[in-house]
Amino acid sequence: MLRVPTSGKRLLSALSGQSVSPPPIWLMRQAGRYLPEYREVRGKVASFLDLCLNPELAADVTLQPLRRFDLDAAIVFSDILIVPYALGQKVEFIEGEGPRLEPVRDARSFALLDRARAPDLLAPVYATLERVRAALPPAIPVIGFCGAPWTVATYMIEGGGSKDQAEARLLAYRDPELFQRLIDLLVEVSIDYLLGQVSAGASVLQIFDSWAGSLPDDGFARWCVEPTRTMVRRLKAEVPGVPVIGFPRGAGVLTEAYVTETGVDAIGCDTSLPLSWISDRLQPHIPVQGNLDPVLLLAGGPSLDRRVEETLSALGGGPFIFNLGHGILPQTPPEHVARLISLVKRG
Ligand code: CP3
Repeated sequence: MLRVPTSGKRLLSALSGQSVSPPPIWLMRQAGRYLPEYREVRGKVASFLDLCLNPELAADVTLQPLRRFDLDAAIVFSDILIVPYALGQKVEFIEGEGPRLEPVRDARSFALLDRARAPDLLAPVYATLERVRAALPPAIPVIGFCGAPWTVATYMIEGGGSKDQAEARLLAYRDPELFQRLIDLLVEVSIDYLLGQVSAGASVLQIFDSWAGSLPDDGFARWCVEPTRTMVRRLKAEVPGVPVIGFPRGAGVLTEAYVTETGVDAIGCDTSLPLSWISDRLQPHIPVQGNLDPVLLLAGGPSLDRRVEETLSALGGGPFIFNLGHGILPQTPPEHVARLISLVKRG
């Protein structure tokens, strides 16, 4: 049985600039390894990518957290690295290690990327969305997402996760022309991908720029803000009613410029942004989302309770969506998630 939220459409109201009490809540990585039922489904397929590409299982996994918790949105189960996969890059997820890709670092490997097959390769994600949309009550929106071009480019260039994105920055500085071509390609394919998700039932979109914090201000303007601005402008032209949440993780004080220049409808705040700064500098201009420390959710106990109250009193008076500052950690006890949601819903 799916729980129907106490008052529907709460996420969309907050995204349109209203203060909603209690605030809507969803959690980044709300579907995932911290849930035993996820681990069970994950055990049925050989690889994580196989799960993302299996609409029946991916839809089931998307709905799992909504069966347990009073969440205000579903987020389609997929990954930001599905886009490089759709461009023909070799992408694997190695157990216990993370993603591994055949690096794109020169004109030759860039030339192998092919946008033509992307719609077919992404079709399973659209099928997942259609299933999820059909299974949920109309009041619960489904969030579609993609990685921002910069963040996806870092994985494509590095060949996986990295601690400082140095190879990606090096390519951007050494061969800005090739790097820009990669960014431009990602802008185009990501716009198509998000529009495809809207057609399949997504009514909110989030752009994850997980590595926005690794660029200096000029690089941030050029490779985070500018491509995102282009994407938002095109999305607004095609699907004007669909709000876009930007999540430039680690952007710090540059978050203000990101808000004014990209045109996103709401701003995802990471854990490092102070609550008072969010409420003074961001919330007067834009609905804010965030930013509980995922490690505190893992820890639980009185410090979790206290911080949830502080977050609600700092941000609950304006347009606000309760979330974490980054994704749920796999070791998190599901009871802590239940506790968090009951505290938020008690308002
Ligand atoms: O519930 C949801 O939020 C939807 C699903 C979702 C996943 N990844 C599932 C996933 C979303 C929105 C993402 C986004 C994503 N993926 C980001 C941006 C957000 C962030 O965390 O910064 C990034 C950088 C990735 C790339 C990625 N995917 C990495 C680095 C890893 C390995 C780390 C890990 O946690 O294992 C993944 C794998 C991944 N994506 C898993 C899940 C549930 C775990 C794989 C498994 O279950 O075997």
